[in-house]
Amino acid sequence: MREKILALLKEKSPSFVSGAEMAGRLSVSRTAVWKNVNLLQADGYRIERSPRLGYRLQEVPDLLYPLEFAGDLETKIIAAERRLIHYHRQVDSTAEVIKKLAEKGAPEGTIVLAEEQTGGRGRMGRSWYSPFAGGIWLHILLRPPLTPAQTPLLTLLASVAVTKAIRRLLPHVEAGIKWPNDVLVRGRKVCGILTELKAEPDIIHYVITGIGINVNIDAGKFRAELKDTATSLYLENNNTRVSRQKLTAFVLEEMDTFYRQYLSAGSLPVIEEWKKYSITLGEEVTIKNVLDVFWGKAVDVDSSGALVVEGKNGLRRHFQAGEVTLRGTGR
Ligand code: BTN
Repeated sequence: MREKILALLKEKSPSFVSGAEMAGRLSVSRTAVWKNVNLLQADGYRIERSPRLGYRLQEVPDLLYPLEFAGDLETKIIAAERRLIHYHRQVDSTAEVIKKLAEKGAPEGTIVLAEEQTGGRGRMGRSWYSPFAGGIWLHILLRPPLTPAQTPLLTLLASVAVTKAIRRLLPHVEAGIKWPNDVLVRGRKVCGILTELKAEPDIIHYVITGIGINVNIDAGKFRAELKDTATSLYLENNNTRVSRQKLTAFVLEEMDTFYRQYLSAGSLPVIEEWKKYSITLGEEVTIKNVLDVFWGKAVDVDSSGALVVEGKNGLRRHFQAGEVTLRGTGR
């Protein structure tokens, strides 16, 4: 209902729209209109009220109501229609919401967005700090005609999309990618990506990609253990707020473009883009996976997205998974 009221206010803006007209068009009582206008005001919408003329929209907050970011979205698969966008004020984790939708047969391109996650999850069972309106907490559902072995590329693809979107919005912020898919600015993490899939050996049922971008989070708000390793776009933008609405639209557009390109042209273009933004290649790294720890120089990413690390003896190993630390920085 709130969204429908908002749509009417926007349609009439900068003029007034009367409570009676809204109630009539939405087939609800004038009290229901009044209550929802109150809720919008509590969200930060500035709405002028006049006893004679009704309501007039004056200012819009940076919330991710689909109306606010999806109007001019140029995507063909991801969030390509309004019905594919599931918006929530608060969830435990968008992962849970999208899994349920996927199991119920939701179509490819479905997305879940939340203003706040109370139980946001990161890699390795870590938690992910997701305060209200502080970032973009997003999950995307894909049903790619690929084999499970080809999915690591989707993870790299998502990091390329986020990096490009950040650079498009904030050209002076030098976002780069630490293998496989952490987006960093000046050595600190600004975005984390988590991909899970449901598959059989030769067929994927679905892939869900969770993207968390720290947008308008102030330094003091990060938990103590994140203070030296995390950052936000606000902090990297001279303590100036960044539009989550624009960034969300850009991320979805870039994801859509790269995903379609991957399906039509294969992995090479994605890998080329990934290499452009890599901050891992050419660096001495430590890579830790479930089996062991390996030291060497990150020399390449192969066509499957695996990191190629060359040890002291010249031996090259391909890593499909693992936690990379750039030596010297400790990050
Ligand atoms: C990482 O640890 O680097 C991955 C972080 C992924 C966080 C995002 S926020 C939206 C989605 N929902 C979650 O609970 N996690 C992902």
